[in-house]
Amino acid sequence: MSSSSRHSTVTRRGMSSVMSTIAGPALTTPTRLCFIVEEKYEHDAMPSVVAQALRSWGHQVDVLRPHSTLTDLSELMPGGAASYDAYVLKTVSSGPGLSILEAAGAAGIATVNDHRAIRLARDKAVAASRARAAGLPFPTTWFAARAALLSQVPRDRYPLVVKPNNGSSCEQIFRVDSPEELDRLDLDDSGFLLAQPYLSNPGYDVKLYNTGDEVFAAVRRSPLHPGQDVTEQLIPVTPELHALTVAVGRAFGLDIYGLDVVETPRGWVVLDVNDFPSFGKVPDVAQRLARTVLRLARRATATPVSTPAFVPAMEASA
Ligand SMILES: Nc1ncnc2c1ncn2[C@@H]1O[C@H](COP(=O)(O)OP(=O)(O)O)[C@@H](O)[C@H]1O
Ligand SMILES: [Mg+2]
Repeated sequence: MSSSSRHSTVTRRGMSSVMSTIAGPALTTPTRLCFIVEEKYEHDAMPSVVAQALRSWGHQVDVLRPHSTLTDLSELMPGGAASYDAYVLKTVSSGPGLSILEAAGAAGIATVNDHRAIRLARDKAVAASRARAAGLPFPTTWFAARAALLSQVPRDRYPLVVKPNNGSSCEQIFRVDSPEELDRLDLDDSGFLLAQPYLSNPGYDVKLYNTGDEVFAAVRRSPLHPGQDVTEQLIPVTPELHALTVAVGRAFGLDIYGLDVVETPRGWVVLDVNDFPSFGKVPDVAQRLARTVLRLARRATATPVSTPAFVPAMEASA
């Protein structure tokens, strides 16, 4: 494969010939990473600041923009033209990035987060099932392929929260107090929906973030309590919240992630799990995430996937 076709897939940045040890881990070998950047995040700080930190430490970081690039999947092969140690993705619901990340994973290349873990978190129905199967505190969840099916939720389970199955950014979240109110609601039927009992809470969420080296907690206003007087700020991580965060990471297999929790009369309950969130006010987040990405990429390099020998009748390069 020519280098020009390689350049058509990724934006290649020159690798610093001088290995910097300032502010970053001392290096012997630069790591080669491909950041898949979804259209939605093209102008956002995350994940670009992580890529910048890695470059400043002397690593090679190429950027693949799946919405504007014809991706040559053969480049994803280990030892192929691109030959990355790992692919990194901050997912967006229904974005093309996850397909490419999974393609890389299918070829045995490390992905950050692990692409199977992202699958468990990305679809809220799957996440609910995983969380409850792992014994995590998570609300009862009904899945409805069409909005009309929600009328079958028993009246005694109201008030409900109705949300899109592939939702994010607190969009299209409704509190519904009765079946009559549900009837009046003009729910978007273009995607699948979830319903959960509304969990009584003080009117704010706690966002828990794991950068891969430390857990942080922040208070955030709930979209269901827009008038609530809330100071959005970092708060101390109690041992209970720390344990809950670690348990979610283990249950899903995520390394870089966040969760939304609320404090209910029956204790903390997890409402949402997000791979690679934006990390709000977390300090030094670019350096923290960059170190985690390096650790994961190197761990994967140390344990290569063995591929069975198979010689197809057809020319492999065809
Ligand atoms: N079952 C629930 N009970 C109470 N509040 C909820 C419930 N589900 C969601 N919420 C509120 O709505 C917010 C958004 O829901 P979430 O499931 O996190 O969707 P999104 O993916 O849009 O962030 C939560 O952070 C919480 O404030
Ligand atoms: Mg959320």
